[in-house]
Amino acid sequence: MDRIRIVGGKQLNGTIPISGAKNAALPLMIASLLTDQTLILDNVPRLADVAQLQRILGNHGVDIMAAGKRSGDHEYQGQTLHISAANIIDTTAPYELVSKMRASFWVIAPLLARMHEAKVSLPGGCAIGTRPVDLLIMALEKLGADITIDGGYVIAKAPGGLKGAEIDFAKVTVSGTHVALMAATLAKGTTVITNAACEPEILDVADCLNKMGARITGAGTPRITIEGVAKLNGARHTVLPDRIETGTYAMAVAMTGGDVQLSGARPELLQAALDVLAQAGANITVNNDGIRVTRNGAGIKAVNVETAPFPGFPTDLQAQLMALMTRADGNSRITETIFENRFMHVQELARFGARIHLDGETAVVEGMKELRGAPVMATDLRASVSLVIAGLAAEGETMVNRVYHLDRGFERLEDKLSACGATIERISG
Ligand code: UD1
Repeated sequence: MDRIRIVGGKQLNGTIPISGAKNAALPLMIASLLTDQTLILDNVPRLADVAQLQRILGNHGVDIMAAGKRSGDHEYQGQTLHISAANIIDTTAPYELVSKMRASFWVIAPLLARMHEAKVSLPGGCAIGTRPVDLLIMALEKLGADITIDGGYVIAKAPGGLKGAEIDFAKVTVSGTHVALMAATLAKGTTVITNAACEPEILDVADCLNKMGARITGAGTPRITIEGVAKLNGARHTVLPDRIETGTYAMAVAMTGGDVQLSGARPELLQAALDVLAQAGANITVNNDGIRVTRNGAGIKAVNVETAPFPGFPTDLQAQLMALMTRADGNSRITETIFENRFMHVQELARFGARIHLDGETAVVEGMKELRGAPVMATDLRASVSLVIAGLAAEGETMVNRVYHLDRGFERLEDKLSACGATIERISG
């Protein structure tokens, strides 16, 4: 199993190109199941989760051709995928494939909408809380699906096709909104989704669906209206930049000090996180190429933060902020409101000497002058990268084990950081 070795204590200086967003690329690839024509996606990141979804779509009979520059090529860009679901040969998504990645469960929506049936294993993914799918099932039932759960599979049928409905989510859910949106595009009549998630990735998917001929208005707000159409077409769409990757590198620079240009980043996608970083003492400037983050001389200030649905501070940056706060002047309080049990990084950060106490859903972080490098274990995707951030600032050597979690969501992490002066390398095997 690969490991990542870091020798900390160096500032970061240089340019980091921001990749396409994993959390948009996955639902966009899944949306290809809605049409028998080719969907072309540009700026798709090369990630383990993307490769896993390619296998899952392949199992349904989807043909995917990948093009574009490769890692190491000059002017690196994400890959372009030509995805054709002209012939769907199987409407079952088996346990062996779906259990590795939660988002793959979302194939249930386009399969049901287009093929009028789907049998999908209950999902896996990061072990952060219970992460049920009750709201996704509720949305599909509202659209007229008949759903049973048997042997760990969700079996959904709609012999006469789906019908437009009013779907009101009791809780803001990204997965529920994606599923309802995709399913409603081919339903007969109008669907109105209320208390919809407003995450930029929802808007990106809706923009692509509209290019494919869907009739969606209000995406990016809590009320989305979808006029169902009989058929969707092919289209070409560029995946938006990854706001979580952007925020992660911004936190890394705030942690180590230095001066880094986050090339291709879009500030409006993570304003809440940038505001928190500015409060913590980083200088953030927006320019034509993206965002520049610097911290020179001044120490890190303690901040109190609560995670919230977009446009609030994202749960996917909570672990990274916690790593940053371990070196702040004073105590900070970080409250997780989206997922239960999303504090697995706390005990790993403690290996660097960090002092963090849990009080229900709040972590109280006692800032200290110095962290010391340590062997640590990646537990979930975002938690893993918080260990990298701590390692970059710690004295001495850090070895991050189980890096497959990182490979699920961060493209060329060690290349991007070492290009900015970090001592970081992958040890294979
Ligand atoms: C997505 C993101 C993930 C991010 C999260 C919150 C992708 C691939 N993943 O995850 O990176 O951390 O949004 O921004 O886009 N819930 C229910 N019942 C349901 C569905 C969800 O109770 O049927 C709960 C969840 O347990 C959680 C909350 O709702 O407590 C939010 O979950 P959701 O927004 O659906 O997250 P994901 O789409 O899984």
